[in-house]
Amino acid sequence: MAEEVETADRTAVTNFVGEIRQTGNWLLLRVCIIAAIGGLLFGYDTGVISGALLYIRQDLHANDFEQEAIVAAVLLGAMAGAACSGYLADRISRRWTKVIAGTVYFLGAIGCALSLSAPMLIGFRFLLGLAVGTASFVAPLYIAEMAPPRIRGGLVSFNQLAITTGILVAYLINFAFKDFPGNWRWMLGVAAVPGAALAIGMLSVPQTPRWLVSAGRVQEATDVLTRLRSGDPHADVNREMDDITEASRRERQVSVRDLARPSIRPLLVIGLVLALAQQFVGVNTVIYYAPTILAHTGMSNSDALARTVLIGVTDVVFTVVAVLLLDRVGRRKLLITGTVGILCGLLVLAVYFWSPTLQQHAGYLALVGLLIFIASFAIGLGPVFWLMISEIFPVGVRSKAMAVCTIANWGANFIVAQTFLTLTEVIGRQGVFFAYAAIAVLSLIFFVRKVPETKGRSLEDMQAQLTGGRTT
Ligand code: BGC
Repeated sequence: MAEEVETADRTAVTNFVGEIRQTGNWLLLRVCIIAAIGGLLFGYDTGVISGALLYIRQDLHANDFEQEAIVAAVLLGAMAGAACSGYLADRISRRWTKVIAGTVYFLGAIGCALSLSAPMLIGFRFLLGLAVGTASFVAPLYIAEMAPPRIRGGLVSFNQLAITTGILVAYLINFAFKDFPGNWRWMLGVAAVPGAALAIGMLSVPQTPRWLVSAGRVQEATDVLTRLRSGDPHADVNREMDDITEASRRERQVSVRDLARPSIRPLLVIGLVLALAQQFVGVNTVIYYAPTILAHTGMSNSDALARTVLIGVTDVVFTVVAVLLLDRVGRRKLLITGTVGILCGLLVLAVYFWSPTLQQHAGYLALVGLLIFIASFAIGLGPVFWLMISEIFPVGVRSKAMAVCTIANWGANFIVAQTFLTLTEVIGRQGVFFAYAAIAVLSLIFFVRKVPETKGRSLEDMQAQLTGGRTT
């Protein structure tokens, strides 16, 4: 059995890397890696604040309300960023929207590092949030529109890999700077580097062919697509261009109200359920509060921090597994298997906190629950949400629909972050984990019944099938 899994893994690696090699061109890989720096900003920001806050509290004399606002400002900024950038991504292009996001992030990170008071820090964290919210969905959107269908799942999920890497780097930087004078300023300030890298990097990569066609620049689109597919024996640039042009012709530019069209509504429901489920199973309680949860099992703060790094590593490792498997096994199977795993992890945590005997004699179970949870999230809901919302919508509504799903995702993230500690006091830790488990069950039922497989199909093909060829 172990051998079979190992062989399957090896085949998956050879396949994905082989496909990239065959697809030939390093331009495609470079484009996807640069775009995924957006994910790094997202993850770094998610991971860094819990550590930095310990010192900000003392240094800036922040009261409880200010501390909560320092954390929440990014989440609220991200919602606002996603709300504006759906429009921007259509209007000035995916590429320029990302250049702006990188620049704003750079300025926000420097501003945070130099903040002289809590209100000033809150303002700059909001600015950071605008950039994070924008990058969080324009990155998968940009990559999905560049990638060939056969390896789109893996390439788009580079972004999720960058998110998890950002979280891990943040945990490590928190650890490394823990005894450094003025440490929180460094923790927040180093983020300027990936911000600048994103802005400068995006200047060196092309526009997506789909956006170029929708802007009427068909010849440029053909040139970009030819470069992206050069050396790929499976590619048929003329056919792909015909499909893109045809899909774009059918879809006029739309307003947000068009998202309620009968042909789009069911897709929007799928996107929104994935967005809400991704957050309401409680992933960010693990990311934000893992040290608190572990410290509650009786271990020292320093042990709890070290175990938290282990959670970060597990998240990255299993995201690599997802990148390798998404185009072979398919999105649906990984989503469903991952959600079953999430449910198991949550039940382990719930039972552990429910039973005083387990808490006394089996302290390791909390860590086991957290690891099962995060590994399962990393192979399923983590990457699949961002991937699917970049795949299922027709080009005319794609960026706006993705923006709406992204706002819902950040909104739910905000609600979970703000309610976890209070809920723990009201219904106990076990109550909270049982509640998340109930959400996992409902999500699972929805996924099994409603979520389509999008593996290996062109975006245009899917558009025709998922909307039943309707444009109304
Ligand atoms: C989620 C984040 C989460 C991260 C953890 C992302 O897909 O959107 O909210 O912190 O995964 O790996």
